[in-house]
Amino acid sequence: RWSAATGPRTVLLAAPRSFCAGVERAIEIVELALERYGPPVYVRKQIVHNLHVVEDLNRRGAVFVDELDEVPAGAVAIFSAHGVAPEVREEAARRDLRVVDATCPLVSKVHAEARRFASEGRLVLLIGHAGHEEAEGTLGEAGDSGVLVQTVEDVAALPPDRPVSYLMQTTLAEDEAAGIAAAIRDRFPEARGPRRNDICYATTNRQQAVRAIAEESDVVVVVGSANSSNSQRLVEVAAHHAPAHLVDDRGGIALDWLAGARTVGLTAGASAPPALVDDIVAALRGLGEVHVEERVIARETVQFSLPKEALS
Ligand code: F3S
Repeated sequence: RWSAATGPRTVLLAAPRSFCAGVERAIEIVELALERYGPPVYVRKQIVHNLHVVEDLNRRGAVFVDELDEVPAGAVAIFSAHGVAPEVREEAARRDLRVVDATCPLVSKVHAEARRFASEGRLVLLIGHAGHEEAEGTLGEAGDSGVLVQTVEDVAALPPDRPVSYLMQTTLAEDEAAGIAAAIRDRFPEARGPRRNDICYATTNRQQAVRAIAEESDVVVVVGSANSSNSQRLVEVAAHHAPAHLVDDRGGIALDWLAGARTVGLTAGASAPPALVDDIVAALRGLGEVHVEERVIARETVQFSLPKEALS
């Protein structure tokens, strides 16, 4: 328990944290679709990987489905921020669905690269995580040329028979991705790839910010859902410096994590609403005097325009 005898505790907030421009845009697209077409609108997969965002939109009339065959013919179908493979677009066209595409423009950029490399006859190695929707979409764009690479060992096992290129999931840990990219360039010196990496600005900034606070914290709390790749990476980065925990909201915090912790680091993944962070700060204040500080490692000004089908 926090005791008054030891004085106020410090809550160190990482900045940037919480929503990125791609997530804000995806949520706004669902809201606009609800306004324009009226409920229900159907969303393929979770619009972003966050329980609270999905529950909130669901209450307002968005119906989340796993696959398009659950969407009635002619209805509105929204593609999530993680993007889709070409087969999903084809199915939507076949079923005459009204598609509104909330794919993050930074994911679309990687898709375009996958198509370009595949059209050059290259093998397209995607550094990413099996089963993640973004990886499935990007691999789909590469067609038969796409191969998922998750480890340095996967690189060693590749056949040596074809020109190679590589791309990345946008939410990877920087060090891990750099290690695998180096292994690819070692084994295939002619490999083509992104200038630096495909990890998006929001992932990079949130990882640098959590590293900065974790170095000064006794414990780190990351707000985000378990299926959120970028939130999981924040926990991993923080865990190099302090015990780190992922929570969906204040209810996930165990009091014994806080025992003896003078400085509590706090951040949130790119899909986690900022209000959840405020709520945790309020909960911590309920336990005793708290002094809040913020470590700002970057200011974000990125904004994406909305797709025309969401506006007209
Ligand atoms: Fe886009 Fe990066 Fe956010 S890819 S959805 S800006 S985490």
